[in-house]
Amino acid sequence: MAELPRGIYWDKGQTPPRCHATAILRADQNATAAGIDKALLALAALWNQLRVGTLPTLDGAAVPASSFEWLLGYGRKAFEIAGSKHPVPRKLRAPNTFNSVDPQGGGLAIDGSGLKFDSGIAQNQATEQFCVQFTGDTPLSVTRAVVETSLLLESMRDAASGKAPLLVSASFTGFNREDRRSWLDFHDGLSNLRSGDERRSVIETRPQGLAKSDKWLAGGTYMAFIRLRVDVRLWRSLTNDMREALVGRTKISGCPVVAIDTAGMVTADPLCPVQGTTEVDADPGNARFLEPPDGVDGKSRLSHVQRANHHMAKHRIYRQGYEFFENPTLGRPFEVGLNFVSFQENPDRLFFMLKTDTWLGGTNFGGAAGPEVLHVVAGAVFACPPIIEGEAYPGASTFSDAGPLIA
Ligand code: HEM
Repeated sequence: MAELPRGIYWDKGQTPPRCHATAILRADQNATAAGIDKALLALAALWNQLRVGTLPTLDGAAVPASSFEWLLGYGRKAFEIAGSKHPVPRKLRAPNTFNSVDPQGGGLAIDGSGLKFDSGIAQNQATEQFCVQFTGDTPLSVTRAVVETSLLLESMRDAASGKAPLLVSASFTGFNREDRRSWLDFHDGLSNLRSGDERRSVIETRPQGLAKSDKWLAGGTYMAFIRLRVDVRLWRSLTNDMREALVGRTKISGCPVVAIDTAGMVTADPLCPVQGTTEVDADPGNARFLEPPDGVDGKSRLSHVQRANHHMAKHRIYRQGYEFFENPTLGRPFEVGLNFVSFQENPDRLFFMLKTDTWLGGTNFGGAAGPEVLHVVAGAVFACPPIIEGEAYPGASTFSDAGPLIA
């Protein structure tokens, strides 16, 4: 029985916990399947301890579990490790890939999209062999997992060579805002998919449509992780009408924009929000305004929500993102942004959305050739195999000598 990996909050009654961390794990260039299997076995045991609230270093003292979950992702390079028993999954190959960063920083992140790498980064730190997503209720629950993961992997260094099969090469943290808004000040996640079956059907990879060599991924999902810096200074320099036109919703209420005149003045649905309410997500009477409407004028169609949602079920994705804040340092002011996280049964859905002209293709966030408010700091797509009873960790058939549990 294959079960969807944990840490994806798709079911009715579930809400993603407030805190998030993604650690990127890089394999040593001489690592073998046996070495990686040993490391992942040890990591899975550690992460399962954190789930139930125990840690050997604390000698049995209670460790609050804080809804902690872990989710292991396999990047394209994981399947290039010597002795891997599965080839690179077809959906992790071109064209579902990120470009490399220009040697001098920046450059187009995804062909056909309007997303560029940040000029200040020289390497895309997410394109390593594995990632692990930690979610939990408290900052401690997710940062402790990064610390324990790093220390455990470092303890596996070979005494003679100093090399370990796997090490944490980067980690990124994030949180959910209690006002359910992003750093753009607008509500985010208003029109995310309904929890339950609708969400699950978008997330879960089905055996049909998978190449024969990728059938082992059925019941799992593909995760996209894109850390996007939001140029909040540029955003604040725009007029409110410009911002509402770019998002496709009004700032305070979240009501859908239906028309934009030649002077750039925005009109929202006049019936929204229902009398006695001020924000669309605060009252069930406003439920009909959560999906962006079809009957809008040409300029409104260029907004982010309209470009990202054409009401076509086969292109929808489930977004479970977390905001981030980075402290200012000498020579660099503070930075904010979104750890964009999406789950989809097939990454074609996301790449279609990002590359197609009438969708987000060619635009940075929205508009005809809108302002460059977003920059990619790191980004990659990962295969997240299902949980299978008897397997020590999801995807163990890739490295374990026990052989694949399902053909
Ligand atoms: C990889 C880049 C991104 C993609 C593919 C993407 C995709 C989407 C999708 C699919 C929707 C929902 C449309 C719908 O179903 O109605 C949406 C809405 C929205 N997104 Fe994005 N998004 C991206 C980046 C961002 C960033 C970085 C921010 C802000 C920091 C952002 C803010 C919003 C807002 C405010 C909404 C409208 C609220 C809502 O309807 O949920 N998006 N986006």
